[in-house]
Amino acid sequence: MKRIAVFTSGGDAPGMNACIRAVVRGAVYHGIEVFGIRKGYNGMIAGELFEMSSHSVSNIVQRGGTILKSARSKEFMTPEGRKKAYDNLVAHGIEGLVAIGGNGTFTGAMIFQREYGIPTVGAPGTIDNDLYGTDYTIGYDTAVNTALDAIDRIRDTASSHDRIFFIEVMGRDSGYIAIQSGIAGGAELVMVPEVLTPISEVIDTLQQGWSRSKSSSIVVVAEGDEEGNAAQIAEKIKQQVEGDVDIRVTTLGHTQRGGSPSAQDRILASRLGLGALEGLMAGQKNVMAGIINNELVYTPFEDTIRLPKPINEDLLRMVRILSI
Ligand code: F6P
Repeated sequence: MKRIAVFTSGGDAPGMNACIRAVVRGAVYHGIEVFGIRKGYNGMIAGELFEMSSHSVSNIVQRGGTILKSARSKEFMTPEGRKKAYDNLVAHGIEGLVAIGGNGTFTGAMIFQREYGIPTVGAPGTIDNDLYGTDYTIGYDTAVNTALDAIDRIRDTASSHDRIFFIEVMGRDSGYIAIQSGIAGGAELVMVPEVLTPISEVIDTLQQGWSRSKSSSIVVVAEGDEEGNAAQIAEKIKQQVEGDVDIRVTTLGHTQRGGSPSAQDRILASRLGLGALEGLMAGQKNVMAGIINNELVYTPFEDTIRLPKPINEDLLRMVRILSI
């Protein structure tokens, strides 16, 4: 393989830059030419490809976001869009791709590979940690720590005012950020999309706390929870609880996607970036590089998308025990 390209796609995640750096520097080390593609699949379609050198990735290991920029491409979902993308790759002599992203990115890569056969290896970049085939995804650790920092701050004011706070964290279909930040932040309850916690149970838990003279409580809610978002859940509680309850809602939103990556994310991103590149060089295609039990493994895109990554329900039980 003489020339490859790297791109980031979908929601950005802290550590993507460290991953790009590993791909580019790894390629230079192995004597392979490397191109960057701007704005994910949109840039592939628009022909936004440029040659990179080891200097192109200087001073980025510590930076959040992605220097290659990212997008969720609607056009790549169409055969016409994919044809344009293929033509641009051929025009630039690209023989293989490293795709850094999540579910949507790998779905696109899988279809593209089936149609045009350009080998692609993925590196899991998403704060949600919702990909089967790796213990952790790039950006997840940083996002958990960002959420935790906010929870700690909110606990101070919750306790000063004897308030209940519903704190919404990201995770469209996944409760990983909620559960980790909730445990670390000493939350009274964590609500995740994978396990239904009915409103009656939320009220029960809060009331048990009040009966033990707890004056403030924190409930961490993953944005994809079945009972609704944090604001909707808080509203339901207000309507169903008798008497005055002082409830506030904080949605952490995109703060969780930014910021300098943690040491863990930088190391994970470096291992996965190099792992994806070297996998591609060794003939891997249509797979995602992941780390399971500290070992580099490759999992077919199809499995990373199709297979669920279950959360550890015992951790939810632990939240209740420890908040007594
Ligand atoms: O997939 C990562 C994620 O941050 C989800 O947790 C969230 O639901 C979604 O992206 C938000 O996407 P956007 O930035 O496009 O609004």
